[in-house]
Amino acid sequence: MKSLLIGVALLAASRISGVSSLAPPGPVTSSWWTSWHASDFPVSKLSWGKYNRVVYAFAETTPDVNTLDLGDPGDLLAELVSAAHAHAAQVSVSIGGWTGSRFFSTAVATPANRTAFVKTITNLTTTYHLDGIDFDWESPANQGIGCNTISPNDTANFLTFLQELRKDPVGELLTLSAATGIGPFFDADGEPGSDMKGFAEVLDYIEIMDYDVWGSWSDGVGPNAPLNDTCASPADQQGSAVSAVKAWTAAGMPANQIVLAVASYGHSFRVAKSDAIVNGTMAAYPPFNADDPPAGDAWDDAAGVDECGTYNTVGGLQDFWGLMQFGFLTSKGDAAPDIYYRYDNCTQTPYVYNATSEVMVAFDNADSFAAKGKYIKSAGLRGFSMWEAGGDSDDILLDAVRSAAGYL
Ligand SMILES: *[C@@H]1O[C@H](CO)[C@@H](O)[C@H](O)[C@H]1NC(C)=O
Ligand SMILES: *[C@@H]1O[C@H](CO)[C@@H](O)[C@H](O)[C@H]1NC(C)=O
Ligand SMILES: *[C@@H]1O[C@H](CO)[C@@H](O)[C@H](O)[C@H]1NC(C)=O
Ligand SMILES: *[C@@H]1O[C@H](CO)[C@@H](O)[C@H](O)[C@H]1NC(C)=O
Ligand SMILES: *[C@@H]1O[C@H](CO)[C@@H](O)[C@H](O)[C@H]1NC(C)=O
Ligand SMILES: *[C@@H]1O[C@H](CO)[C@@H](O)[C@H](O)[C@H]1NC(C)=O
Ligand SMILES: *[C@@H]1O[C@H](CO)[C@@H](O)[C@H](O)[C@H]1NC(C)=O
Repeated sequence: MKSLLIGVALLAASRISGVSSLAPPGPVTSSWWTSWHASDFPVSKLSWGKYNRVVYAFAETTPDVNTLDLGDPGDLLAELVSAAHAHAAQVSVSIGGWTGSRFFSTAVATPANRTAFVKTITNLTTTYHLDGIDFDWESPANQGIGCNTISPNDTANFLTFLQELRKDPVGELLTLSAATGIGPFFDADGEPGSDMKGFAEVLDYIEIMDYDVWGSWSDGVGPNAPLNDTCASPADQQGSAVSAVKAWTAAGMPANQIVLAVASYGHSFRVAKSDAIVNGTMAAYPPFNADDPPAGDAWDDAAGVDECGTYNTVGGLQDFWGLMQFGFLTSKGDAAPDIYYRYDNCTQTPYVYNATSEVMVAFDNADSFAAKGKYIKSAGLRGFSMWEAGGDSDDILLDAVRSAAGYL
């Protein structure tokens, strides 16, 4: 046991010295950059100097363990890497995503497939001069989009795979991260696992995706990205950054290996005026009309059939800039005149409501990002990562979280 621990310590030390020029063990100031929004938000619009890491989304898993699908011929990834390196920032590629996690389970299911998947990843790394790999498997042993390959052994196989990747001379030097849900990875019983220490030994950090906690599937309008919820009524405690960090640290993931993933978008809901406005002020957790979902901004998913062949209504997502375009917010990010505004002090999240269109949006603004930044600092978390870089407007959100976390 002792020699194993020493071995792990040596491995960690060699990793740090091996990448000292690019991977400072300090705070992570990161964002995901989406290749499919490149025409609206090209690499040149990234706020270099405010990020030490940008994560390319996505390389999707495919039925062939030897192949990942970058979603473009690779030119955008090459452009991102050269721009980042010119600004002393790192680039990771995120593997998976909501639609791209379909073949994770089979890729790590057997020794032969794990070895092949390691090679696929190290080849991607050397081909594009990457600094890291981010695993966004949504989600091991727990069905995501609906047609993922899945096995009760996913989490155990994922860990075995990561251990093998760490033993590879290329993999050893990479910054490895995993975007996770608000609870630990599921074990073979289909429950959140109680021991994530193995992941803490092979991953540099996890990014807890504290968003989509409430949405069109919920009973009422609740926060997309609650900071805290222990102060909410029991029925409204659906998860939060505070409870997620508690769950992950209890399972053995140290706080300084936890990055808080923050959202530059919100969810919109159709809420009748009589439910939305009670005695002149906005009601908390009002019911909404699920049969009439409002469309979001230009980046929102249209209604249609997904990768699994399942019909979905419009997504209803509003980016921070979309809220400005739709007249909810001024260009400074404040509620516009004639728009109702509520800031929930428990979850530390804002809401806006247009009584004419009867659209309510649960979102994040500078105040809620500052609250999250303050929490990152006080809880000793590793940093933040924003989904997604292009959702912000004039760096209002980015500056707020950086400043409050103490990174300015
Ligand atoms: C191994 O990977 C291949 C794809 O390359 C897949 O067809 C096969 O099902 C995988 N094996 C298992 C046991 O999942
Ligand atoms: C490595 O990746 C490149 C570019 O993605 C691809 O063309 C090549 O076939 C891969 N090589 C191997 C050995 O997988
Ligand atoms: C899960 O792993 C166990 C032990 O390694 C093995 O016996 C079992 O067949 C695996 N189950 C599946 C579904 O692969
Ligand atoms: C979360 O709320 C509880 C009260 O319900 C409070 O004691 C705790 O300090 C809060 N945590 C943060 C980080 O705001
Ligand atoms: C609204 O105001 C009326 C009259 O002041 C009061 O009786 C009622 O309790 C209020 N309702 C809510 C939900 O606050
Ligand atoms: C509210 O929605 C209506 C109907 O879509 C729209 O005409 C109006 O401009 C919106 N109000 C504000 C303040 O944006
Ligand atoms: C909510 O918090 C803000 C700022 O922290 C404060 O000004 C306000 O009074 C609080 N509201 C309530 C109802 O506690």
